[in-house]
Parts: sequence; C-alpha cells; structure tokens
Amino acid sequence: MSQTELTHERLIETYRKKAKRYDVTSRLYPAPGYPQRDQRIRAVRALRLRPGATVVDMACGTGLNFPLLEKVVGPGGRIVGVDLTDAMLARAQDRIAKNGWSNISLVQSDAASFDFPAEVGAILSTYALTQVPECADVIAHGAKALSGGGRWVVLDLKVPGRTPGWLTQLGTATVRPFAAIDDWMMRRPWEAIRVAMQEELADPTWTELFFGTAFLAAGTRSPG
Ligand SMILES: C[S@@+](CC[C@H](N)C(=O)[O-])C[C@H]1O[C@@H](n2cnc3c(N)ncnc32)[C@H](O)[C@@H]1O
Repeated sequence: MSQTELTHERLIETYRKKAKRYDVTSRLYPAPGYPQRDQRIRAVRALRLRPGATVVDMACGTGLNFPLLEKVVGPGGRIVGVDLTDAMLARAQDRIAKNGWSNISLVQSDAASFDFPAEVGAILSTYALTQVPECADVIAHGAKALSGGGRWVVLDLKVPGRTPGWLTQLGTATVRPFAAIDDWMMRRPWEAIRVAMQEELADPTWTELFFGTAFLAAGTRSPG
C-alpha cells in the first residue's frame, strides 16, 4: 500500500467513527459557541450563486452546506457533493432523502483526483481543504473547470498569527482529531491555499475570521 493510500485509509477510518454523530458534534466544532453557522452562511454568500446554478461542494461530509446551497440554487440548480469517506456520504444521502432533494448527486472521491465537471458555476469547500495535502492542486483543478465568472470559495480553520496563547490553543485544538497537529502546523496549508487562489483566480480575497482562527478565501474565474 502506498503512503497516500495509507493516509486515506486512516482518514476514512477516522471519519467512519465520526459520521454518525458528526451533525451533533460539529455544532461544538471547533469549540462550543464557535460561529460556525455564521461562517458557512458567509461562505455561501461569497459564491454569489443564482437560481439554477451548478455548485460542487468539495469534501462535503454529511452535507451540512446543502440546505444553504439549495436555498439559493433552487430546484433548477444542481449540487455535486464530493467526499472521500463513504460513511460521511451515507449521512449526506440520508439528508438528501429526508429533504426530498432530487438535484444533488454524491461522488466518493479523493479531492486531489476528482474530475470536476466542465463549466461548473461555483465550488465551495468548508472546514476540509487544509486536511488535503494537495490542496493547491485541488484549487488549480477546480479553477480550470469553472465557467467564466464562476466562484471558488474556501472556508477553513487556521492557526492565528499574532494572537494570545489561549487563542492559538483554540485554533490548534480544532484540528487535533483530524490530522497530526504538528504536521498541520508545520505545513501551514492555509498559506498554500492563499497562494493558489491568488495564482489561479481573478480578484482573490482573503478574510480572516474569528480572531484569525478561520479564513474565507474567494476568487473568480476570469470570463473568456
Ligand atoms: C471536518 S469534515 C467537513 C465536512 C463538511 N465540509 C462540513 O463543512 O461539515 C472534513 C471532511 O473532509 C473529507 N476529506 C478529508 N480529506 C479528503 C480528501 N482528500 N478528499 C475528499 N474528502 C476529504 C472527510 O471525509 C470529511 O468528510
């Protein structure tokens, strides 16, 4: 088994254990009272979606973004949820069935090898992309698949910069269950994401949220 396969196996195992209770436990993520829902709403707004649009939710997990996306794209739109973990996708499928949505398809895939549909209107990834070692490549692949004027939006956690120790601890505690903390901190994947967004997209924006413990990165595919 290659190193990548081994890493994927471990990640899938971790999320298989979390899947059943993810919707409840994620409300406490990364800490009780953390404004996660506000951040999701902000990320979906940054997509600038219109009714009928097609959007990819990369590493969608159990589909916590789906209600927000459905509200904007409507029944004439299309949502493609992508995730590596079968058990997380099974919960997403439950959510789809429960809500009677007929315009969402799910794909089990590694973000790094996902073949984005051509001319996709928007791509979103929340609280996931910094876990993907090839995150810069994922940004680049997605940017190439976007239609002119399409938006790429990434919301994720980061370690705060010049902030008090307790806040740094909050930021780091958030990823401990998901990745080797030392590796995550050393890799500083949010920086790779920021650079990739700047290189691949027009009008890149970078907004630090909640004392620098999260970021919202967005950019637009140039028309033509
Ligand atoms: C913290 S959860 C976030 C889920 C969802 N985006 C949300 O906002 O609730 C991280 C998700 O990323 C997925 N994931 C991690 N690495 C991945 C990869 N390389 N390719 C696709 N999905 C991945 C996991 O399976 C998990 O469902």
